[in-house]
Amino acid sequence: MFRSVLITGASRGLGRALALGLAEPGTKLALVARGAEALDATAAVCRDQGAEVMTQILDVSQGDETVTAVRDLDARLGGLDLVVANAGVGPELEAPPYSWEALAGPCHVNFCGAVATLTAALPAMVARGRGHLVGVSSLSSFGALPGSAAYCGPKAGLSMVLECLRLDVAPHGVAVTNIYAGFIDTDMVEHRRESMPQLMSPEDAAQRILRALPNRPARIDFPQPLALAARAGARLPRPLRDRLVRRLVDG
Ligand SMILES: NC(=O)c1ccc[n+]([C@@H]2O[C@H](COP(=O)([O-])OP(=O)(O)OC[C@H]3O[C@@H](n4cnc5c(N)ncnc54)[C@H](OP(=O)(O)O)[C@@H]3O)[C@@H](O)[C@H]2O)c1
Repeated sequence: MFRSVLITGASRGLGRALALGLAEPGTKLALVARGAEALDATAAVCRDQGAEVMTQILDVSQGDETVTAVRDLDARLGGLDLVVANAGVGPELEAPPYSWEALAGPCHVNFCGAVATLTAALPAMVARGRGHLVGVSSLSSFGALPGSAAYCGPKAGLSMVLECLRLDVAPHGVAVTNIYAGFIDTDMVEHRRESMPQLMSPEDAAQRILRALPNRPARIDFPQPLALAARAGARLPRPLRDRLVRRLVDG
């Protein structure tokens, strides 16, 4: 189905599992991350599975460099069918992120980096009249959580950009999918102290996404019923929701 795919954050976690899930003979993969060693390890497994693989060391928080790199990879792979903006950094849990210094990094990676990745590929997809953009957001983008401005904020912003782009590019044959994922057992949550209901393996999460993508859905929410609870919780009156989320986070 997808013959030419770019995935950011492909060295570890969900991005690695997506790359492995897509790697097969006839598929060309462009795998992006900052750490060369882990990225090369992912690439080697994908090649063993029969895929043609290019790797690109890139810090997606550098927006202009990201746009240049994605456009270059698009040309080198002969036109990307699928771009997955997956690279992300987790919430800073040790102290509430009150300062710009604490918020800047996650904003530059989780919002600007993802938007740069996706929009870099878009003009060429529109010109070809086909393509698929995927942004990895989070169930935590549905509503505020204590100590999570640096995570929930950029993810909610990314989701809104994706929703708007979807309206604009659908008439040009380009699909846009928002991934609202629950807890995935990766390095990102390694030090998390709070409970993580319905924690999934990265392989399980990747398979849920890859099974759904061919239908070009506007959004993929998982796992249920956590996704349903997150959506319903966002609609509660604020005083009630505030009490509930504090109780959940404080345990
Ligand atoms: N884990 C969860 O519970 C969960 C839940 C919902 C959504 N998500 C989202 O899923 C996506 C993947 O997260 P994960 O759980 O797989 O985390 P992870 O295991 O920490 O992997 C993050 C990936 O992003 C790359 N990355 C981080 N910063 C980067 C940057 N500035 N430039 C380029 N690459 C960068 C990392 O590689 P390098 O460090 O080598 O660059 C790594 O490959 C993220 O967008 C995350 O927000 C995760």
